[in-house]
This record gives sequence, structure tokens and C-alpha cells, in this order.
Amino acid sequence: MSETQILTVVSTRDAAVREIAPRLGVRAEEGRRFAELTSLRVGGAVDWLLLPETEEQAASIAGELDAHAVAWRVLGAGSNVLADDADHHYVLLSMREVKGVARFDGERVSVSAGYSLPRLCVDAARRGLSGIEGLGGIPGTVGGALWMNAGAYGDEIGQVVETVRVARGGRVAEVPGTDVRWDYRHTSFRDGELLLGATLRLRHDDPDQIKARMEEAKQKRFATQPHGARSAGCFFKNPPGSGLSTGKMIDEMGMKGAQHGGAVVSPVHANFIVTEGEGAQAADALALAEEIRDRFRREHGIELEYEVELWGAAAPSLIESDAGEGANDEQ
Ligand code: EPU
Repeated sequence: MSETQILTVVSTRDAAVREIAPRLGVRAEEGRRFAELTSLRVGGAVDWLLLPETEEQAASIAGELDAHAVAWRVLGAGSNVLADDADHHYVLLSMREVKGVARFDGERVSVSAGYSLPRLCVDAARRGLSGIEGLGGIPGTVGGALWMNAGAYGDEIGQVVETVRVARGGRVAEVPGTDVRWDYRHTSFRDGELLLGATLRLRHDDPDQIKARMEEAKQKRFATQPHGARSAGCFFKNPPGSGLSTGKMIDEMGMKGAQHGGAVVSPVHANFIVTEGEGAQAADALALAEEIRDRFRREHGIELEYEVELWGAAAPSLIESDAGEGANDEQ
């Protein structure tokens, strides 16, 4: 595309966003930076940030953006995303404000995508509902957890999903959980699909035992993972089906504390890359990650797969043809 063509596309898009957002009552902000929107605290500006507040609003705005061929991505808590330092020329649909309330009914709970996962785990434990207590320390939204089938300490969210609500043609549609493939830190949801919420089916158990299991997971997490640090959780997946821990292996390679600019391999858990200082860049984290992958390949013959989402600055529609694993959007 020539520069003139890009400028025309951008001004048509901006006019569309300026018309659609107020009509649907959705807050729209320009020029927000990934450095303030993600837990790694790095990454460049994004053209537009849209903040719907209800599932219906989110479905409508996604439908309108599609109808106007406007490229968009979805962000939840931003706790599993490494976004490039360059300016991102697309619309970011933040689900953070689509929180609503968690509606409990017997063993079921219906919850919106922007609801905090740790909060939901506490809500469920208080009601004596088991099935997600291992997930209590994951600092993400319910939507993000669903998108990637978040898991920890023996629990995975996919195991308890009865139905998922997704945006279809501008409306809220319900999909049975059994129609979704729930793999290790990966699902069959596709780019361009917006998750709005879910109904989970939990099971009654003794509240004291649930709380004890939650506390145990919390203690383990505190003892073995960095907290309060600027991280995106585990950076790489464990080698599938091997029972191996990538963190343990990086540790054994002597890489704890390895540094590249403002990015450091956590001295607490070697599968965490943390950023430090004002000048930290996404490029630092990426260079450090690639150094780990190179050494891992040489020393173990294993190709490490990213567990965090790597977001390039190009608009998603322009990179769709080569979208692989890493192009899945964090919600
Ligand atoms: N270990 C080390 N050094 C390290 C890290 C780990 O020796 O630097 C050892 C531990 O002492 C333990 C073993 O390796 O004996 C396994 O460690 P851990 O229990 O931390 O498990 P993990 O396989 O490294 C996985 C998930 C975590 C999840 C924990 C607990 C992945 C990539 N990681 O870590 O998930 O919290 O199990 O269930 O699957 C995440 O998804 O972002 C994440 C952090």
C-alpha cells in the first residue's frame, strides 16, 4: 500500500470510529500506550482504545467495526501480551470495563469477560463452589482466561465451562463449551472472535477445604513465582506432553538473572521475563526471549513455544495471512 492509500484508509477508519463509538455510547481514546495497558509495561501507542461496558455494547461495536472493515484486537487485563515498541495502527477493544456482576445460580455462575479472575475465584470459594480455586492467583480477566484456557495447580478454566458467549454479527451468541477445543494454554477460538462472557458449572464442596486449597496454591505461587514484578507470567509453554518444566530447564542452563537492556530473567522463576526501569523496551524482552530460545534449541534440541502473545505493530487484517499461534489475541 502506498503512503497516500494508507492515509486514506486511516482517515476513513478514524471517521468511522468517531461516528460509531458515541452512537453506541462507547468511550474512545486515542494514542494510549501498551506501556500503560499491559503488565510488562512496555510497548508503543495504539491508534484507538475502545472501552465498551456491557456484553451487548461490545458485541455491537465489534459488529460495526467488522462492517466498516476496521482492524481490531481484543485486550483484557493485558497480563499475557508483549506488544511491539512501534505505533500500533489498529483499534484495541478493551474488555476491562465489561465487568458486570458474577451471577450465581446453584452450581452455575454467569460472568462477563472483563470480570477479574482472582475475584471470581474468591466469590466461588465463599459460596462453597469448587473447580477454579487453583486459578486464584492468575492476574487476568475471565475473557483472557477463556481465550487461552488458563490453568494452574491442576485446574484449567476449560474444564468447567458450560457455555461461552461470543459476538456474532453484532449480537451476543451462546456456544456450548463442548464445541470449543480446550488444549494446554490454547483453544480453538479464532482471531476476530470476541469472547463476551461465560457460564461456568462448578461443584459444591466444603468451603473450608476450598479455601485451604486456594491458600495452598497462593503460598506455592508466592514461594516460586515473582510477585509485584512487571511480568506476563510464564513466557514459554512447557514442552507439550513431556512433563518437563521450561522454567526448571532455563534455571539449569544458569540463565536466572540474565539481562538484555531493561529485561531480566527472573531470579525467582526462570520462565518469567520481568522488565525493570523507565527505559525498558519490548525489544529488550524479545531479544532476551530469543536468546533463551537459541540456547534451548542448541542444548536441548527443543523449539520453545511462546506462551505470551507477541503483538506486532501492523494492523491484524494486514498480517492475517501469516497469523500463527502468536497471533491469538489476549482478552
Ligand atoms: N523450577 C526450578 N527453577 C525455576 C522454576 C521452576 O527449579 O526457575 C522447578 C520447581 O522447583 C518445580 C518444577 O521446576 O520443581 C516445576 O515448577 P513450577 O511448579 O513452577 O511449574 P512450571 O511447570 O514451571 C507451570 C505453569 C505455571 C503455573 C505452574 C503451577 C506453564 C508454562 N507454567 O509452571 O503457569 O502457575 O505450573 O501450576 O505451564 C503461566 O501460565 O503463566 C504460568 C506461570
